[in-house]
Amino acid sequence: MNLLPVAQTQVPPGVIDLGLGNPPLSTLPLDLIRTAAHDALTQSDNSFLQYGTEQGDGYFRAALADFLSKGYEFPVYAENLFITSGISNALDLLCSFFTKAGDTIFVEEPSYFLALKIFADHHLNVIPIETDDRGLIPASLAGTLDSASPKFLYLIPAFQNPTGRTLPQERREEIVRLAEKYNFLIVADEVYQLLNYSQQPPKPFGAYVDSQRVVSLGSFSKILAPGLRLGWIHSHANILNRIANSGLLDSGGGLNPFTSAIMRGVVASGGLESNIGRLKQKYANQIAVMDEALSRHLPQAQYALPHGGYFFWLQFPPRVDASELRTRASAFKVDFRPGALFSSNGGMKNFMRLCFVYYEAEQIEEGIRRLRELYLSSAAFTAA
Ligand SMILES: Cc1ncc(COP(=O)(O)O)c(C=O)c1O
Repeated sequence: MNLLPVAQTQVPPGVIDLGLGNPPLSTLPLDLIRTAAHDALTQSDNSFLQYGTEQGDGYFRAALADFLSKGYEFPVYAENLFITSGISNALDLLCSFFTKAGDTIFVEEPSYFLALKIFADHHLNVIPIETDDRGLIPASLAGTLDSASPKFLYLIPAFQNPTGRTLPQERREEIVRLAEKYNFLIVADEVYQLLNYSQQPPKPFGAYVDSQRVVSLGSFSKILAPGLRLGWIHSHANILNRIANSGLLDSGGGLNPFTSAIMRGVVASGGLESNIGRLKQKYANQIAVMDEALSRHLPQAQYALPHGGYFFWLQFPPRVDASELRTRASAFKVDFRPGALFSSNGGMKNFMRLCFVYYEAEQIEEGIRRLRELYLSSAAFTAA
């Protein structure tokens, strides 16, 4: 029998892929999950083996609401949470229930490339909105709203993928005002909200659910383990009801009651909070390592130091084409994600996304050294 490896991440042997956006295996807490699974499977209540309530396991939503209230520093209520199989799943559900093929949506330029793929699956017309070093520019959004009516605006407000940037409070408020005026939904992907290392971001968009224009998406993928396929939508009950009343949930029941029953223990015991504390410490060190390696080996790259999330966003001189560089990267046993992947209008060619969480210090240092070799070998560089 030909057994395939269980992990999706397949980096060719010897290659350091600084483009990967995965947590490292060493951080995935098997012991924590084992203990919680043992507890859930040795008590007498077997109701989590039944079809679940449409909005998601009530006990789990209550534990999650407590956890989020503490982490977000404002009250989050269980009735405003809907359990998903992660943010990718939530985006797909929102596209299914709030759009039809040909509808317009707005995204940040640049944006998370795999969300763009989900929007393409739903045949949506994607209009990019300009950003600067503080994220989406409300004036550009307002300008585009004069000529187009989006079903929703998708944005990653804290420690954005790929730029690492965070949207300030006043811009958030302005965007909510525009959503109310022009009647569109804000789909805020807050996957990195709780992974802040040196700067606390503003409150998540979940703080504005009463506006009935906000859908805030969370996930356990980056704060615990992506294999759980578990996340949540935080929104107004009227919006959640539209999803919960779908045929999908009517037929199959709420999503992931089994995993939710196990995760309830992890969340309620404080295990999730301690796990996040450990990740923050580890990743903050890795930012320092990558920063040091970049300034030593690749002074040609300009970047702002990330204060949270997973990524460095490097800008090179305009003549550099990172997609072209990548075609020769395997010869140098290194990889990254070129900026063009994240663009909805063919831009960002001279940018590169690097992830600082996946590799340990020594490999980060070696990966950046290899990037330097690749960069120096590039025709763009020598032609300059
Ligand atoms: C911005 C963003 N959204 C969503 C995801 C995927 O989340 P999930 O695993 O919950 O589907 C990622 C993972 O890299 C991400 O960076």
